Amino acid sequence: MTWFSILFVCLGNICRSPLAETIFRKYAENEGIADRMHIDSAGLGRWHQGEKADPRMIAHARRRGYEIESISRPIVREDFESFDLIVAMDESVREELMNRALTKEEADKVVRMVRYCEWMDYPSVPDPYYGGSDGFELVLDILEDACGGLLKDIVKNRLS
Ligand code: 4NP
Repeated sequence: MTWFSILFVCLGNICRSPLAETIFRKYAENEGIADRMHIDSAGLGRWHQGEKADPRMIAHARRRGYEIESISRPIVREDFESFDLIVAMDESVREELMNRALTKEEADKVVRMVRYCEWMDYPSVPDPYYGGSDGFELVLDILEDACGGLLKDIVKNRLS
């Protein structure tokens, strides 16, 4: 049976990528294919290593039925080797991931989250950390859309 691993990456791994991981896992569970995937998230930095997600992100997610359980960790070298797909939340994250990729094979794994959006039209998943409630709701809107598109893409192109 085909197996697929996916790593969501943002700056701190306490807002956007933990939410992406949580939504994507829930969608995969709903489709009955979560056991065919390894789903994880990480941050470029280690400022929040070992911490739960931002309480604001947890609260906004909970209102839509998502329970974020991930603990912040920085991305490490082995992640580039072991994961099949590495999904960047914004352009600066994507650029840094490309800088850290050592081979073409590793670089080819790096994609932008918003390319999987089906109806939202944003150039990135905006960092909500220094903003207000609206920013967290926007992150939820974009990630629900993108996770749906991403799951369809994986089912069609990678798990068949
Ligand atoms: P995230 O948000 O990258 O979506 O987890 C941030 C979290 C922390 C910081 C910046 C963005 N920070 O500067 O500590």
